[in-house]
Amino acid sequence: MNSEPLYEGKAKSVYRSEQPGELIVRFRDDITAFDGEKKDVLSGKGVFNAAVSAFFFEHLESHGIATHFVRMVDERTMIVRELAMIPLEVIVRNRAAGSIVRRYPFAEGQVFDPPVIVMDFKDDARHDPMINDDIIMALDLLNREEIDAIRKTTLEINRLLSAYFRERGITLVDFKIEFGKVGGAILLGDEISMDSMRLWDRETGESLDKDVYRFDRGDVLSAYGRVVQRIIPGYSGGRG
Ligand SMILES: Nc1ncnc2c1ncn2[C@@H]1O[C@H](COP(=O)(O)OP(=O)(O)OP(=O)(O)O)[C@@H](O)[C@H]1O
Ligand SMILES: [Mg+2]
Repeated sequence: MNSEPLYEGKAKSVYRSEQPGELIVRFRDDITAFDGEKKDVLSGKGVFNAAVSAFFFEHLESHGIATHFVRMVDERTMIVRELAMIPLEVIVRNRAAGSIVRRYPFAEGQVFDPPVIVMDFKDDARHDPMINDDIIMALDLLNREEIDAIRKTTLEINRLLSAYFRERGITLVDFKIEFGKVGGAILLGDEISMDSMRLWDRETGESLDKDVYRFDRGDVLSAYGRVVQRIIPGYSGGRG
């Protein structure tokens, strides 16, 4: 990209586009965990995450979910609709893993039926504290109707993604999504990738997501690559 990024996140860089109302999102190879304390560069990771994100944005669009995705420009770069991001991480948990097991007396792997939705307030300086509906409304982030709409859409996204993974031998344990607004509409934004989901192989129980990196459980890139191969029909993407 020739110009300065508008925003440089931990894993993606966002650039202005010549097209008004659109942005360019580049998935970098940087990987971080534990609030940015652990950091590495894994050559090719950005390509895998971009491919899976683009694939799921299109899959969700084809099932009636409005997303920011416009098109890919190269294997790690996508054009998206520019959104006023809502500073919430919307987390769906189908099984207990990660922070919810540390904070509450759940057993690792315990099934949540119905799924549990948790929202965190995106604020790095405050370490993204958990938030609830009343605080969201008191902060004027969303009104009641918008919160309800986001929950409904989130559960539908969970149904679609869970079914897709299940058919391919993978359990969607949990995932994080972000929404944003444009012209009165709320769209799914950001990414849907191995950095933002917990995925367990249904047969072996093996992690196929960022937990491989967090807990040094093996070759992160090969785990991400196996997800790509199983999820994207006929994937033949490059490295780079
Ligand atoms: N369609 C969009 N319009 C505007 N901003 C977007 C859009 N989609 C995603 N973003 C924002 O772009 C940034 C992507 O960068 P990245 O995910 O690497 O950030 P990060 O390090 O995780 O930090 P953050 O805590 O801000 O997400 C995020 O801040 C995300 O909210
Ligand atoms: Mg992010």
